[in-house]
Amino acid sequence: MTEQFSIRPAAQSDGSFLGDMVVEAANWRGGAPRARHEILTSPVHRRYISGWMRPADAGFVAVDAGGNEMGAAWYRMLPRSDPGFGFVETAVPELIIGVLPIWRAHGVGRTLLRRLVLHAHEQGHNRLSLSVEHDNFARNLYRSEGFVVTGHVDGRDTMVHRLS
Ligand SMILES: CC(C)(COP(=O)(O)OP(=O)(O)OC[C@H]1O[C@@H](n2cnc3c(N)ncnc32)[C@H](O)[C@@H]1OP(=O)(O)O)[C@@H](O)C(=O)NCCC(=O)NCCS
Repeated sequence: MTEQFSIRPAAQSDGSFLGDMVVEAANWRGGAPRARHEILTSPVHRRYISGWMRPADAGFVAVDAGGNEMGAAWYRMLPRSDPGFGFVETAVPELIIGVLPIWRAHGVGRTLLRRLVLHAHEQGHNRLSLSVEHDNFARNLYRSEGFVVTGHVDGRDTMVHRLS
């Protein structure tokens, strides 16, 4: 890409932007988008962002040369009592990723994904999980970065990256 971008660690103040990325992920299919408020108040989506940032949360934000956010990838540890779509086991963090539409297909998502996987490894996690709808191209991105399908739930694939 001609534009430059850099990756910085996510901070507590990034909560609103991460919420935007949850909305992008929920609306990935296109068509009439579901409203931000509706998505972020629904129990299945708000768990990925509510209370950001908790001690076990970690993430990265891609920013352009002017410091404007382009996309983000993060993980959080969700409890068995309130599992995410990609829940595998207690203490296995689940990854969420989104890139603003104008910045997609420029390598931002892959760069964020690699950075977060490396960080999870550095933090001593053995696995990282995610959930992706079966017909989302992002599945190929995840597979090419080492994630493997380990289960299927309601049209979604659970994918896991073994880090050690
Ligand atoms: C999925 C997403 C995070 C990927 O980020 P991105 O910055 O667009 O991805 P990249 O540019 O790093 O591309 C990664 C690979 O996907 C491919 N790709 C990108 N957009 C694509 C598209 N629309 N269709 C098919 N393949 C595509 C690229 O060609 C690239 O593969 P390559 O390196 O072999 O060329 C981003 O597109 C996004 O936010 N999508 C909407 C939300 C979403 O679906 N989130 C995931 C929910 S599980």
